[in-house]
Amino acid sequence: MDSLKFVAASVLLGSLLAGTAFAQSPTYGVGRTPTPDELRRMDISISPDGHELPPGRGTVKEGAQVFIQKACIGCHGAGGVGGLAPNLVSKKSGDNVWKQDRVLPLRAPYATIVWDFIHRGMPLGLEGTLTPDEVYSVTAYLLFLNKVIPEDMVLDQKNLPKVKMPIGDEYGKPPPEFKLNTPRLEGYPY
Ligand code: HEC
Repeated sequence: MDSLKFVAASVLLGSLLAGTAFAQSPTYGVGRTPTPDELRRMDISISPDGHELPPGRGTVKEGAQVFIQKACIGCHGAGGVGGLAPNLVSKKSGDNVWKQDRVLPLRAPYATIVWDFIHRGMPLGLEGTLTPDEVYSVTAYLLFLNKVIPEDMVLDQKNLPKVKMPIGDEYGKPPPEFKLNTPRLEGYPY
């Protein structure tokens, strides 16, 4: 590029950038920057490896109590089935997770997702009222009912991320290469 063209290109690029900056600069006096404390209260999502999990613990037995005391039973039914809200336990049994019902405590790729969902979203209408221990215990209860963990397992912030979900490691794998005009893959889970 000769130097004249370079100068022209730079001027053009410069005015484009300035235009973008100008377009973003007006403020409308709406909203404000959240305080660190507000951000901390909102920033409650839990990643698959669970490093944000608060300390706590809960047993299957305690979870069965929480399920009744915190009205889960009213929407989801006794033992997590048969209510107006979705079933929380697969009604179909099967050697393979894909032959069973699509319920979160069975199909989630990570047990931390079950914890996070309950912690943030349940009980519906009273979200955010469960203590960490209550969430650990009710998560243990639902994982036990779906035969994911044994009845005597005590869940806490350390072992929850290590729970092996029945979906296995398949979930994170990319799908096989798709070739045009080939039949749909038999038995492929997605
Ligand atoms: C007022 C009714 C209501 C109450 C009380 C309630 N839930 Fe739910 N729950 C729902 C509804 C409706 C959904 C489906 C929401 C959706 O998929 O977005 C749901 C979804 C769920 C799911 C995900 C289901 C899935 O397979 O996707 C879980 C897990 C769950 N609830 C657990 C609980 C627990 C534990 C409690 C008690 C602490 C509870 N719920 C209390 C209504 C309720």
